Amino acid sequence: MRIAVCLTDNRPDAWIEGLRAALPGADVQNWQPGAPQADHAVVWAPPQSFIDEQSRLRGIFNIGAGVDALLKLRLPPQTMVVRLDDAGMSVQMAEYVCHALIRHFREFDFYDAEARAARWAFRKPREREDFPVGVMGLGVLGERVARAVAQFEFPVNGWSRSPKAIEGLHCFAGEAEFGAFLGASRVLVNLLPLTETTRGILNRETLSRLNGGKPGGYLINVARGAHLVEADLVPLLDSGHLAGATLDVFEVEPLPADHPFWRHPKITVTPHGSARTMRGATIAQIAGKIMAIERGEPVAGVVERERGY
Ligand code: NAP
Ligand code: GLV
Repeated sequence: MRIAVCLTDNRPDAWIEGLRAALPGADVQNWQPGAPQADHAVVWAPPQSFIDEQSRLRGIFNIGAGVDALLKLRLPPQTMVVRLDDAGMSVQMAEYVCHALIRHFREFDFYDAEARAARWAFRKPREREDFPVGVMGLGVLGERVARAVAQFEFPVNGWSRSPKAIEGLHCFAGEAEFGAFLGASRVLVNLLPLTETTRGILNRETLSRLNGGKPGGYLINVARGAHLVEADLVPLLDSGHLAGATLDVFEVEPLPADHPFWRHPKITVTPHGSARTMRGATIAQIAGKIMAIERGEPVAGVVERERGY
C-alpha cells in the first residue's frame, strides 16, 4: 500500500516517520510531482496539481477538522474524503472558549488594568442567567464546547442543521429557528463548518439580533474567518451594540499587520490556534482508519461532499 503525504505549511518529516511506524509495510512518501499513484493521501491544503496527478486515491485524510479548503478543489468522484475527528481538538476548543467567555463575564480585563495601577477595586457581580451562551454548530467540537460551558452553569443554547436533544442544552435547528436562537443568546460562539450556506452568517443583521436585540452581545469566532463579514464588526462594537469579540480566525491569514482588528480595544486576536492538530493522536486516528478501510470496514468522519462538511 502506498501513502502520499502532501502538507502545505507543515514540515513533513515527523509525519512520515510517524505514519511509517503506525503502518508497517506501507510505503509512505512525501509527495513530489511525478510520484507513482498512491492508495491513500494524508493532506493539508494540497495544490490542485496533487489531486490531478493522484487520480486513483481511495481515501484523502485531512489533518484538520475543517475541509473547506479541500472541497474547493476538483476531487475525483470515487475518492473518500475523511476529516479529522477530534483527535485532541475538542478539549482545546473547550478550554479556549471557556477562557474567552469567563474572561469577558468576570471582567478580567478590568481587573488586569486595575492591578497594573495597584488599585483594589471591585465590580458588581454579574448574574450568569443574564449571559446565555449560544453555540452555532453542535458537531464534534461544538457539542463538547457547549457541554463545557454548561458545566459553569451558564444557560446554553445550541444550533445545528438537524434537530438534536442534548441534556442541559436548549437546542434549536435549521433556518426556521435561527432567529429565536440568536435572540435567546448573548454570547455567540461559532463552530460551524464553512460552507456555501454558512459563509457570511455572522453579519450586521444576525449579530444585531443577539441578546434579544439589546446591547451587550459578545462574539467568539473559532471556526473560519469567512463566516464573519469583517466590515460589519467594528461599527457594532463602536456603537456599543456588541461588548466585544474574541477572534481566532480571519478572512485573510495571517491577519495583515495593518488590519484594524489588531488594535481595536474590544477585540482579542489569536493566530488560528484555538484547537491545534496534535500529531501523535492524528497519526493514530488516520492509520486506524486506513487499516479499517483496507479491511472493508466503515470509518467515522467521512465528509458528505454535497453538504460541504
Ligand atoms: P462537525 O462535527 O462537522 O460539526 C458541524 C456542526 O455544524 C454540526 O452540528 C452541523 O449540524 C452544523 N451545521 C452545519 N451546517 C449548518 C447549517 N447550515 N446550519 C446549522 N448548523 C449547521 O465539525 P467540527 O469538528 O465540530 O468542526 C467545526 C469547525 O470548526 C470546522 O469545520 C473548522 O472550520 C473549525 N475548526 C477550527 C479550528 C481552529 O483552530 N480555529 C480547529 C478545528 C476546527 P448537524 O449536526 O445537523 O450536521
Ligand atoms: C483547523 O482550523 C481545522 O480545521 O482543523
